[in-house]
Amino acid sequence: MVPQISLSRRWWRVYLLAGVCLAAFLFSVLLWPGKPHPKPRPAALPRGRLLRSAGGGLQRRPLFRPGTQEPRVLCMVVTTPQYYRGRARHIKATWGHWGNGACPNTVFLSFTPDDILQNVIISNFSSYEDLWGKVVDGFLQLNASAADWFMKADDDTFLIYPNLLNLLAHLDPSEALYLGLPLIYRPEGGEEITYMSGGAGYVLSSTALTRLQAAHAPAHCRYPGHTQYEDVNMGYCMAALGVRAADTRDGLGRPRFLPYPPWRLLQSEPHPDFAWLVHFSKYKFRFGPESLSDLVVTFHEIRDPVDFYFIQYLVNDLRLLSPGASSPFTLSQIPSR
Ligand SMILES: *[C@@H]1O[C@H](CO)[C@@H](O)[C@H](O)[C@H]1NC(C)=O
Ligand SMILES: *[C@@H]1O[C@H](CO)[C@@H](O)[C@H](O)[C@H]1NC(C)=O
Repeated sequence: MVPQISLSRRWWRVYLLAGVCLAAFLFSVLLWPGKPHPKPRPAALPRGRLLRSAGGGLQRRPLFRPGTQEPRVLCMVVTTPQYYRGRARHIKATWGHWGNGACPNTVFLSFTPDDILQNVIISNFSSYEDLWGKVVDGFLQLNASAADWFMKADDDTFLIYPNLLNLLAHLDPSEALYLGLPLIYRPEGGEEITYMSGGAGYVLSSTALTRLQAAHAPAHCRYPGHTQYEDVNMGYCMAALGVRAADTRDGLGRPRFLPYPPWRLLQSEPHPDFAWLVHFSKYKFRFGPESLSDLVVTFHEIRDPVDFYFIQYLVNDLRLLSPGASSPFTLSQIPSR
């Protein structure tokens, strides 16, 4: 026997559901105190709970086969004091130091020290117009023999460090190389310059950095016309110093250094905001899930602190276990900072 539900009882449920939805809608529109945030924002740097397996966690697979050498990388994050609380400290807590798979040598380039960031290279250049001066100042203060590669990132970049190591393992730091997302600057009547997107981050080999440091007046090694774009200046300077721009696309021709977060690039119909990228990209820039490399090194425009932890969790913490595999639990630990 099929149980009979009377029509009137069914309608009663529909009315109740519709009423609840309407009430919720009216509450959110009329009574919500202020503009709702799309995501909760931590007031301060979340600690402890978000840092998994510091010391006592799962064994990670070694990144390199025994006998092959892991490249030494220094990561320099360009920031300013106004973004210490909202960005830089969350980088430190995730890919920049404390998280799984973090870049072990991360320094911050800014103009005041900070107790939490600790490794701050001080530059007196402060405004955005001075970005080129500041970045060169930072590069000049680095020890070119202390690492094989020097990565520049912004304070709204997420670096997937294991994938950077994977890319660099195939390259020779004694060559003068410059890596990132290649764009082409085409000024009207001026010289065309290939440069790497600043936001998506770029990497100099130690030989490229040595050339920059040895250049006569490095701050003047810049695009001769007027531009405030630090990345265009770097592109010009690298070419002037005979540094080769290497192709960093994966085997399917997909870029590894990305100027936007994954959730924006997954939309197959590019947003009009991205017209510049389509226009400037050296290689045809494609959108949609099949165009996102599974070897991505950076995402840019990560601006909500929660998103750093979100990507960190999906990329470096979450594990894919094959059927039948077992693993010990990971204990949370409160790090001493
Ligand atoms: C920063 O210092 C350098 C050298 O000490 C100087 O040439 C430059 O003008 C200074 N920049 C600013 C913005 O004060
Ligand atoms: C630069 O790094 C090299 C290699 O780690 C080290 O031997 C050297 O002392 C460093 N130089 C300075 C000035 O710190």
